[in-house]
Amino acid sequence: MTRLPDFRLETYFSRWEFTARHHLTASDVQTMTLGELLSLADDKDREAFENLPLGYTETFGDPALREVIAQTYENAGADDVICFAGAEEALYLAMNVLLDAGDHAVVVTPNYQAAETVPMALCEVTGVALDPDRNWALDLDEVAAALRPNTRVVSVNFPNNPTGKVIDAADFTALARLCDERGIHLFSDEVYRGLEADAARILPQAADLSERALSLNVTSKSLGLPGLRIGWITCRDRELLSRLERAKHYTTICNSAPSEVLARIALKAREPILRRNRALIAANLPAFESFFSEFADDFDWQAPDGGCVAYPRYLGPDGVEEFCTRLVEEAGVLLLPASIYHSELTPTPSDRFRIGIGRHHPEEGLAAFAQWMRTSR
Ligand SMILES: Cc1ncc(COP(=O)(O)O)c(C=O)c1O
Repeated sequence: MTRLPDFRLETYFSRWEFTARHHLTASDVQTMTLGELLSLADDKDREAFENLPLGYTETFGDPALREVIAQTYENAGADDVICFAGAEEALYLAMNVLLDAGDHAVVVTPNYQAAETVPMALCEVTGVALDPDRNWALDLDEVAAALRPNTRVVSVNFPNNPTGKVIDAADFTALARLCDERGIHLFSDEVYRGLEADAARILPQAADLSERALSLNVTSKSLGLPGLRIGWITCRDRELLSRLERAKHYTTICNSAPSEVLARIALKAREPILRRNRALIAANLPAFESFFSEFADDFDWQAPDGGCVAYPRYLGPDGVEEFCTRLVEEAGVLLLPASIYHSELTPTPSDRFRIGIGRHHPEEGLAAFAQWMRTSR
C-alpha cells in the first residue's frame, strides 16, 4: 500500500482533544451515556443487549441492524447495506475497492482529509473547490469539466465538513445524474445529514438516487455516538458490496457485537435523537452569535446550513494559525486552524477556523474565549 501522509486533524487532536479545557471544535453532537441510550430501547432490544453472545458477527453487519439502516433509505434494502468500523474504515476501503492506478477521481474541497489523501494514494485526483466568495457554491460545470474517460469516482460531502455547506437538492440530483450518465460512482459522505437548520434543505441520499452511487453514513456525528464505531455504506450495486465485504476481511472482519445492538437501538430512536440534537444546535446558536457580534471586527461569522461545525474567517493580522495556537495554549480553548483543511488539490482559504456548535454548554468555552480576546490578545 502507498504510504499515506499524516492525518493532520487527528495528529492535532492527539495533542489537544483530551487535554484542552474547552473542546470548542467538536464535529460530533453531544453524546449520551450507555444508560441513556439503553433507556430508549424496547424490552426486546434491551434484553438482546444484556444476553448478547460476544462472538464474531457477520462481516456485512448484524442483519437486524442492516434492516433498520435500510429503513432510513427510500430505495434500498438490508442487502444493499454493509457496516464498517466508523465512516473512516468505510471510506478507506471503498476508495481501495473502487480505484486502481490508472483511474481518476474528482474530490470536492475543502474536505475531511481522508476524502482526498486516500484516493490520491491510489490514482490521479482532481479537486473542485467550493467557492468561499459565493457562499461555498459548488460549480457543477467545473465538476463536469474535471471528468475524464477514466474517472471512476466523484466524492462529495454535504453537509460539508468544515464549511457547513448544503448545496441545492436540484444540484445534488443533477450531480447524481451526471455521474450516472458517465458510468461514475458518486461517493456521497452524508455523515452530517439530519442536522440541517432548515428541514427543507435535507438532501436526498445518493444511494436512493442512483444504483451505482454510494451513501456513507455513521452513528458518530448526527446521532452523537462516535464511540460505537458503527458506520455503513449503502449501495445498490451488489457486486461492489461483495468486493467491500472481501476488503473488510483484511481489516476488522466484523463489527463489535455490542455496538451493533446499540446502533440498532439508536437508529430505531433516530427521529427523536435527531430532533433533540437539532434543538441543541438551535439553542446554542445565540451564544455563538452574541460572541461573534461582540468581536465583529475580528471575525466574519456565518452559521452553517447543516451539520454541527462552522468555518468563520479570522481577520486579525497575526493570522489564524498563530491565533489558534495561542488560544489553546493560553486559554485552553481548542479550535482547528485552516492548515488542517489545506488541500493538495486546490487552493483553500488560509484564514478560517473550525468551531463546533453541537455540544452542551458552549457558553463556558465561549466565555474563556471572550475573556482571552478582551485581555490577552
Ligand atoms: C465528513 C466526515 N467523514 C467521515 C468522518 C469519519 O467518521 P468516523 O469518525 O465516524 O469514522 C468524519 C469525521 O470527522 C467526517 O467529518
